[in-house]
Amino acid sequence: MSTGPTQLSVSIRDVQCGARVRIVEPANVYGCTLGDDCFVGPFVEIQKGVLIGARTKVQSHAFICELVEIGEDCFVGHGVMFTNDPFSVGGPARGRRALWRRTHIGDRVSIGSNATLLPVTVCSDVVIGAGAVVARDITRPGIYAGNPARLLRALDPLPSSAPESE
Ligand SMILES: CC(C)(COP(=O)(O)OP(=O)(O)OC[C@H]1O[C@@H](n2cnc3c(N)ncnc32)[C@H](O)[C@@H]1OP(=O)(O)O)[C@@H](O)C(=O)NCCC(=O)NCCS
Repeated sequence: MSTGPTQLSVSIRDVQCGARVRIVEPANVYGCTLGDDCFVGPFVEIQKGVLIGARTKVQSHAFICELVEIGEDCFVGHGVMFTNDPFSVGGPARGRRALWRRTHIGDRVSIGSNATLLPVTVCSDVVIGAGAVVARDITRPGIYAGNPARLLRALDPLPSSAPESE
């Protein structure tokens, strides 16, 4: 008979932080690097090896897994999900990390609530709509939405300052 589950706790540990970084608890943030003035909302998980550039904001309930890099002045909306295991062998890699794939997000990328990103590269100056599923690399600045995400319209480059809302 089992004596019950092993209980683990969320924690913020081994995080390399720039100046003025704010993380709202509870959050499970470990082994990652956060640039100056980053904000991380509650109920976020950021796994080891993740790099997040200065002034990027990560809103509540987002999941940022290993092998993800996000640039400066980005906005990661509530409940945004990143992935690193494409299930390329018909299911989870089950520890075979060689099957995982990287995601790279450029600067000034805003990702709407509840979007999901498969392992992709997204260039700078992109908006991804709420609920989008980004299944292919984005190489041209613009607004993308839908499942799979498609270009809605081109976008002039944004000024290099982060969105204000938290
Ligand atoms: C993608 C987005 C930026 C587009 O805004 P927009 O350029 O003003 O676009 P419009 O509202 O004019 O819509 C253009 C078309 O795209 C569709 N569309 C807009 N947003 C969409 C989305 N997220 N997913 C799918 N289709 C979308 C519209 O239905 C419309 O289609 P139609 O031409 O067939 O009617 C915006 O809708 C969005 O999703 N923003 C993210 C908001 C968010 O998550 N904020 C987080 C902080 S609160």
